[in-house]
This record gives sequence, C-alpha cells and structure tokens, in this order.
Amino acid sequence: MRCDADVHVTSPQADIHIRPAGEADHPAICALIPSPEELFLVYPRGRHPLTVEQLASLAAERHALTVMTDGEQVIGFANLYGLEAGSHAFIGNVIVARTHRGQGLGRRLVRYMLDVAFVRHELREVCISVFNDNTSALLLYAGLGFVPYAIEERRHPQGRRTALLHLRLAAADRASEP
Ligand SMILES: CC(C)(COP(=O)(O)OP(=O)(O)OC[C@H]1O[C@@H](n2cnc3c(N)ncnc32)[C@H](O)[C@@H]1OP(=O)(O)O)[C@@H](O)C(=O)NCCC(=O)NCCS
Repeated sequence: MRCDADVHVTSPQADIHIRPAGEADHPAICALIPSPEELFLVYPRGRHPLTVEQLASLAAERHALTVMTDGEQVIGFANLYGLEAGSHAFIGNVIVARTHRGQGLGRRLVRYMLDVAFVRHELREVCISVFNDNTSALLLYAGLGFVPYAIEERRHPQGRRTALLHLRLAAADRASEP
C-alpha cells in the first residue's frame, strides 16, 4: 500500500516542514548519511555511500517515504516498511541532518510517522529497530513510549558483534504530546 497522498504538516518552527519524499529528493536524502557508521545505524543493508540507485530500490519496497525540510534543504528522512494492513509496520531509516540535531526535530519526525501509521493506516502497533549503542535513538523512542520486545544479534561491517533491539508501541499506549 503506498501512501503518497500524505498530508503536509507544517511545524511551528518557521521553515521546517514534513512532506512526502519524491524522486527529486533522493540525492539530498543520500547526502544526509555521510559515513559508513551512520549508514549502518540507519540502513544496515545499505552500502556506503548510499546512492540514488539503492534509494530507488528501497523506495520500491517501502511506504510513506517522508522528508523533513528546512526551507528548500532536506534535513530529515524516514519511512515505513513491513506494513501489514490492520496490524503493524516498522518505522525505518530515521535520520536528521547533523546540523539540525538536538532541536526536537527527530521527535517531530517520528511523531509524524506515528500519525501516518496509527491514523492514516489505522495500524494497531508500530515497531522500530535500533542498535544497542545508539543512545540518542533509544532515548528518543523510549520517550515516545516504545518498549523493547526482542534482541537480535547482528554483525557490524568491521566484524564486531552488536545487538539490534526491536521496540514496539501499541496505539493505545502512545504517549500524549506535551
Ligand atoms: C537519532 C536522531 C534521529 C535524533 O534526532 P534529533 O533531532 O537529534 O533528536 P531530538 O532533538 O528530537 O531529541 C529527542 C530525544 O532524543 C534523545 N536524544 C537526542 N539526542 C540525544 C543525545 N545526543 N544524547 C542522548 N539522547 C538524545 C533525547 O531523549 C531527546 O529528548 P530530550 O531532548 O527531551 O531529552 C539523530 O541523532 C540522528 O539522525 N542520528 C543518526 C541516525 C540514527 O541513528 N537514526 C536512528 C536509527 S534507529
């Protein structure tokens, strides 16, 4: 199910907007991920540098590809995958540009994706997967009410062992906005 008719949400921060991503945004989305380490956090199956070809394949199998912009500049990206109608989906590829972190924009972007999942798709549960050493993301998701339900061992590209935590949030448990 595609949801390219996503509503456009305007944030109170003057020039920050969230809207569906188009093909024209693909180069800017790729540019959000400057290092192999960050690509592994955001898209473990990806090969650095992320290319428009990889992004086109990802776009073909995912839903609600979404960008956050500051004026004309793309400063964030997220999407849904593993969507099972009436049941659940995963929020994937969450990233905020380094220049714009620590300003509440990651939380705003994930909240938007929760609206897409719970309101537009009427899903009962939303999941998200995050590596054990990604403190910022873990605290962001925990603050929104996500709780862990499984841990999976993965291999870092350099060979070290790492743990991927799977978190979930039921529609009924969604934290209310401050
Ligand atoms: C994770 C990420 C999306 C957070 O985006 P952000 O815009 O910086 O986050 P926000 O400013 O909205 O912060 C929201 C919450 O996240 C947590 N957080 C954000 N940055 C943090 C940091 N440096 N240290 C600890 N917690 C942090 C906090 O709980 C924060 O809430 P608070 O400010 O009320 O304490 C961003 O750091 C990023 O893009 N990281 C690289 C890619 C990545 O790891 N994506 C997640 C893949 S699962």
